[in-house]
Amino acid sequence: MAVQLIRFTSTFLLLTLLLGVNTAKSQSFIGINYGQVADNLPSPAATAKLLQSTAIQKVRLYGSDPAIIKALANTGIGIVIGTANGDIPALASDPNFAKNWVNANVVAYYPSSKIILINVGNEVVMSGDKNLINQLLPAMQNVKSALDAASLGDKVKVSTVHSMSLLQQSEPPSAGIFDPSFADVLKGLLAFNNATGSPFAINPYPYFAYRSDPRPETLAFCLFQPNSGRFDANTKINYMNMFDAQVDAVRSALNAMGFKNVEIVVAETGWPYKGDSDEVGPSIENAKAYNGNLIAHLRSMAGTPLMPGKSVDTYLFAIYDEDLKPGPSSERSFGLFKSDLTMTYDIGLSKSSQTPSVTPAMPKTPATPSAQPKKAAWCVPKAGVSDAQLQASLDYACGQGIDCSPIQPGGACFEPNTLASHAAYAMNLFYQSSDRSALDCDFSQTAMLSSNNPSYNGCTYPGGSS
Ligand SMILES: *[C@@H]1O[C@H](CO)[C@@H](O)[C@H](O)[C@H]1NC(C)=O
Repeated sequence: MAVQLIRFTSTFLLLTLLLGVNTAKSQSFIGINYGQVADNLPSPAATAKLLQSTAIQKVRLYGSDPAIIKALANTGIGIVIGTANGDIPALASDPNFAKNWVNANVVAYYPSSKIILINVGNEVVMSGDKNLINQLLPAMQNVKSALDAASLGDKVKVSTVHSMSLLQQSEPPSAGIFDPSFADVLKGLLAFNNATGSPFAINPYPYFAYRSDPRPETLAFCLFQPNSGRFDANTKINYMNMFDAQVDAVRSALNAMGFKNVEIVVAETGWPYKGDSDEVGPSIENAKAYNGNLIAHLRSMAGTPLMPGKSVDTYLFAIYDEDLKPGPSSERSFGLFKSDLTMTYDIGLSKSSQTPSVTPAMPKTPATPSAQPKKAAWCVPKAGVSDAQLQASLDYACGQGIDCSPIQPGGACFEPNTLASHAAYAMNLFYQSSDRSALDCDFSQTAMLSSNNPSYNGCTYPGGSS
């Protein structure tokens, strides 16, 4: 029964991919930020139409612009809205203010406009404003009560967005920990997240990690490109990209506070495509690699090493450039789309082109249906794949929490001690450990499904009776 169901599911997923149709559920993790610090933004209606032509399923507003909320009515697109930091004192001290806020910004548009989350304030804890920080939780509680009173308590969640600088340590990921000076306030906020089932929203930016450590190997690590990885000695996980490392550092920090069940949402992440001549990192090429490979990584459903098999909800930053933002040029150059609605660069978000042309899209892009899925039970490298590609696949697969000890010295599959043999073992094991969709046997189009059992002597390749 279970086997039938699994086969049905994979076949369905394969067909879905082949037809280029994406079910709402399959990519619900792709969101985008809609900042409005600009004087050249397209109309809300044009934006709603643009979003509907993409795989983007959720939009995060920093405020609650009624024109945008209305334009997104009946599109099925989830909407995250925010209260201004300046509203926090009134929300905290006056339940009626909270009630009016919820009535005006949520009840008035729900359910036609699918509001899913209210962020009370933005990066408040890092602001250093003690008074505001102390009022954050009461404000969230009053907003939650107002939603409950409107019978929307289980439909619209309440949270707040945090900066990555809350972490005192993020390397290695297993040692991720929050700055102890925030422990008390975070304990209260996390207990609220935990009790109400709302996510912990945070802004990891590999871009900023690269800026503070601008070495080529750091760039490759940040852009999901082939690299030797960063080994976490505590967990024995070799991290292959900065996004996973940062998200897992947050996971570890939450776990260390005792909140293993609080979900993480990536409220912002992105890479600027343009900067001033003295800025390191911004370029079309880098922005396309980061955002494109991130989308491919999320679509692979690999998850992170500490949270395998599920893609964290991720809001890209951002839909448009914000030309009125202060600071270096990069601050005004994160937009995935231009104000004339054309793409700044293509990362395969358009509904009509689901295969991004991103280089090199580790780990996977939708596979071509070369083998017959029915008897093809093992995942093997294609012929003629370069050593560099095999090494990248080997590193990637073994970085995803599978057991690669059989191909280490003394293991049953160590001999023959060749890159081709070790990569083949790891790639197949990764495929078998995943939900065995075609996506899990792609490895940047260097792998294929095979019906020939590659096992030999004492070395068993799992798989077979699919
Ligand atoms: C989180 O919520 C669950 C279920 O309501 C509860 O059992 C658990 O004790 C909470 N965890 C913490 C650390 O408060």
